[in-house]
Amino acid sequence: MLFRSDDAVRKALNGHIGKELYAAYLYLAMSAHFEVKSLLGFAKWMRAQAREELEHAMRLFDYMNRRGAAVGLGAIDAPPAEFGAPLRSFESALEHEKVVSGLIHELYDLAVEKHDHATQLEIQWFINEQVEEEDSIGTIVDQLRMAGDNEAAILMLDRELAARTTEIGRAHV
Ligand code: FEO
Repeated sequence: MLFRSDDAVRKALNGHIGKELYAAYLYLAMSAHFEVKSLLGFAKWMRAQAREELEHAMRLFDYMNRRGAAVGLGAIDAPPAEFGAPLRSFESALEHEKVVSGLIHELYDLAVEKHDHATQLEIQWFINEQVEEEDSIGTIVDQLRMAGDNEAAILMLDRELAARTTEIGRAHV
């Protein structure tokens, strides 16, 4: 089936696949950063998050294919290699999620402007997902702030986050 939408929507969807893939790359780099520091719970949490971001990209990829929209994949920027202390890493992750939320909202606004109802519904899923992600990462940021320089408290949180499988959400943090 042909993509029944303005080409601007198709291009924006294409661009957003790259943003989700970059997020996967960023969290994978954070996972490696924590592995080196033997903070294996944080590393596992970030690895699971990277996998989720990849699923987000695939969700858009599949949606575009279902609608016959030409997917054109672009280059993905390299993420940083150093992230500092756990608090700084999770603060960076939260900042990144806020940027992604803004991009999702712009995508939704564009779909509304172009009367693309199917894309609006697809993007609504992402709007909800961003609320979950900002909440989950924000909670970890709060807990790391409470821990401060207390290494025992940071290690306890690291152990707690090791319980994460793949899904993000309150029950997992
Ligand atoms: Fe797929 Fe974390 O946004």
